[in-house]
Amino acid sequence: MTEHADGLLSLLSDRVDEALLEGSPRLRAVANYAVGYDNIDLRAAARHGVAVGNTPDVLTDATADLTFALLLAAARRLAEAIDTVRRGEWVTWEPGAHLGLDVHGATLGIVGMGRIGRAVARRAQGFSMTVLHTGRDGGVALEELLERSDFVSLHCPLNSHTRHLIDAAALSRMRPTAVLINTARGPIVDQAALVQALHEGRIAGAALDVTDPEPPAPDDPLLSAPNVLVVPHIGSATRSARERMADLAVDNLIAALDGLPMPHPVTLP
Ligand code: DGY
Repeated sequence: MTEHADGLLSLLSDRVDEALLEGSPRLRAVANYAVGYDNIDLRAAARHGVAVGNTPDVLTDATADLTFALLLAAARRLAEAIDTVRRGEWVTWEPGAHLGLDVHGATLGIVGMGRIGRAVARRAQGFSMTVLHTGRDGGVALEELLERSDFVSLHCPLNSHTRHLIDAAALSRMRPTAVLINTARGPIVDQAALVQALHEGRIAGAALDVTDPEPPAPDDPLLSAPNVLVVPHIGSATRSARERMADLAVDNLIAALDGLPMPHPVTLP
């Protein structure tokens, strides 16, 4: 399909790997319609002389907003409460019904303090939360963050260092009252370990915008695990964010096809 293409506008669900590049001899540019680029083999692209670009910044706030929506929804058990009303089971006000977790004053652990992590931290300030972070620029050790946080939110890129960063050992460091939020990439979490932790009540819940794989099969054990809330990778799904992502991706593509540097290039680390 790409054998005659000079440029490719790829989605995060498109794998741009050696096989695709090998079969696309004319290809000079790949503009990913996403800020994440774990779907692209950067080394193979460099070998084939193909420029790669992404869409940073323009989806930061939309993704941070969705992160907070998930955090609040999981803490206050919104999905379950909405279902109760829809099923006609809201019979009376009851002191012990639908009790959730306090968000205000709680401790939020941010794994990956890049643009989106910092935007989530700004929102947390409005809820008087204590914010811990771990990342390349310091903060606390991941182990300490997991042990101290009421909410753990993932904002690191997916790469060979972060794949299954949240594994069984990491989950066992979390508090039994803590909630895991992932709006980054599914494979950062060992999903089988997460399902087991949820069944065993070793953490209080998980709110996920991303899964491994995407989409999960209808019978994926994740979907029937207790206290899990899954939405279909909608972090950047606002009209303005998606339009600005499109603009950046097209700017990248046009520049590269005109023989100019991409305005938002992705380079090999
Ligand atoms: C991205 O751009 O990487 C996001 O995951 C899309 O929502």
